[in-house]
Amino acid sequence: MITFGRAKITDSIRISVLLKTVYIQTYAAEGVTFEFANFITKRFSVEHIESTIAADPDQLMIAYFNDNPIGVAEIIFGRTCPIKNINAPELSKLYVLERFYGKGVGHGLIKEVEDMLRKSGHEHLWLEVYTKNGRAVAFYEKHGFISIGEVDFPMETNTYRNYVMMRSIT
Ligand SMILES: CC(C)(COP(=O)(O)OP(=O)(O)OC[C@H]1O[C@@H](n2cnc3c(N)ncnc32)[C@H](O)[C@@H]1OP(=O)(O)O)[C@@H](O)C(=O)NCCC(=O)NCCS
Repeated sequence: MITFGRAKITDSIRISVLLKTVYIQTYAAEGVTFEFANFITKRFSVEHIESTIAADPDQLMIAYFNDNPIGVAEIIFGRTCPIKNINAPELSKLYVLERFYGKGVGHGLIKEVEDMLRKSGHEHLWLEVYTKNGRAVAFYEKHGFISIGEVDFPMETNTYRNYVMMRSIT
C-alpha cells in the first residue's frame, strides 16, 4: 500500500539512499562524474537530511510503499522566484524510484505538498527543472506548471540550463 507523510528523522539514511539513486538514474547520462558524485554526497548526506527535518519537517514529504520510502518531495520555504520577483516556496526536489513510476506517486506527492501549502496560506509554488529532462517537464505541465523563464545552474565544470516553472495553488 502507498501512503504519504512528513519525513521522520529516523528515515534520513533511507531518504539519502533514495535521493542519490534517483539523481544518478536521472542525470548520469555519461556515468558518475566527479561533479555529480561530489554534489550528491554533500547535498544528500544523512547529516544534511537530518538537519533539514529537524529545522522543519514540512520541508520533506515522503511516499512510502509498505512503510519503505519510494518517493520524496522537498520544499524550501521563503525563497524568491528568480524570474517573477515574488516570495514563494520552491518545490526543489521531486524524486520517485524508477520501479514505482506511473503509479501516481509523483502526483500524490505534489497533491500532499499543495494541500499542506494551501492550509498555511501560500498562493504560489515554483520550481526549476533541467530543460533536457523531458519526462519531468511534461509531468509538471500536466500538473498546471507553466514555464516563466530560464536560469543557469552552475556546477563544478558544467552549467545546466533550467526552466523556471510556476503555478497558482489557490
Ligand atoms: C517526474 C516523476 C517525479 C514522475 O513521477 P511518477 O510517480 O512516475 O508520476 P505519476 O505516476 O504521478 O504520473 C506519471 C504517469 O502515470 C500516470 N498515473 C497516475 N496515477 C496512476 C496510477 N494510479 N496507475 C497508473 N498510472 C498512473 C499518470 O497519468 C501519468 O501518465 P501520463 O504521463 O501519461 O499522464 C518521476 O518520473 C521521477 O522521479 N523522475 C526522476 C527525477 C526527476 O526528474 N524529478 C523531477 C525533477 S526535480
